[in-house]
Amino acid sequence: VRRMFDDVVPRYDLLNDLLSAGWNRRWRRATATALVVEPGFRVLDLGCGTGRLGELLRPTPVVGVDLSLPMLVEARRRVGGRAFVQGSAFRLPFRDRSFGGAVSGFVLRNLDDLPGAFGELGRVVRPGGAVSIVDITEPPGRLRRAAFDAYFRVAAPALGALAGRRAEYRYLVRSLANLPPPERVGKLLAAAGWEDVRWRTLPPGMVTLWTARRA
Ligand SMILES: C[S@@+](CC[C@H](N)C(=O)[O-])C[C@H]1O[C@@H](n2cnc3c(N)ncnc32)[C@H](O)[C@@H]1O
Repeated sequence: VRRMFDDVVPRYDLLNDLLSAGWNRRWRRATATALVVEPGFRVLDLGCGTGRLGELLRPTPVVGVDLSLPMLVEARRRVGGRAFVQGSAFRLPFRDRSFGGAVSGFVLRNLDDLPGAFGELGRVVRPGGAVSIVDITEPPGRLRRAAFDAYFRVAAPALGALAGRRAEYRYLVRSLANLPPPERVGKLLAAAGWEDVRWRTLPPGMVTLWTARRA
């Protein structure tokens, strides 16, 4: 996973904008807006990539963590003066209760052990701290689901091929199937010690935003 993301960095933001027709910006904005954190606490951006979600939380101090060093280098170049740390969602390089809250954008589907990642996230967020997580999910309803499947089977690999990144965009399509349905992800959050777990579909219907609070 790390090598795949290392390789895709130079065109990552551009391809995101193309693939989502610009919607990814609104999804990140909704995710950042949904997070309420007490003043004075830092927020973790889990799987920060190029830093585009965490930067929306300004002026709250944000620490970005990611597996991929080239992503972190690009994040530091773009965002500047902020903390970006290499590390894994399964073993975060932070002390217990270091953060007042956390955000995460489009990372879940890359994680093969969601219970482990949610537990680890709960370790580093202080009790009462909030989390706001967004990722691509299959839309409800047969028609919309068929359109979604067709779009990702055809458009993503085609754009990936244009960008010379066919294999990486095939991975994107495969990874979409990894993520369980929204309610199952909600149950996994609750089982990992998160409470007040909620989720809602964001327009145009292919993305879910989960929010929860650390018990
Ligand atoms: C699709 S990108 C999303 C980046 C960013 N959050 C955004 O909104 O654009 C997924 C990111 O998750 C990172 N990632 C994947 N698996 C990870 C893991 N186990 N621990 C930490 N980061 C991970 C990847 O390196 C990549 O930068």
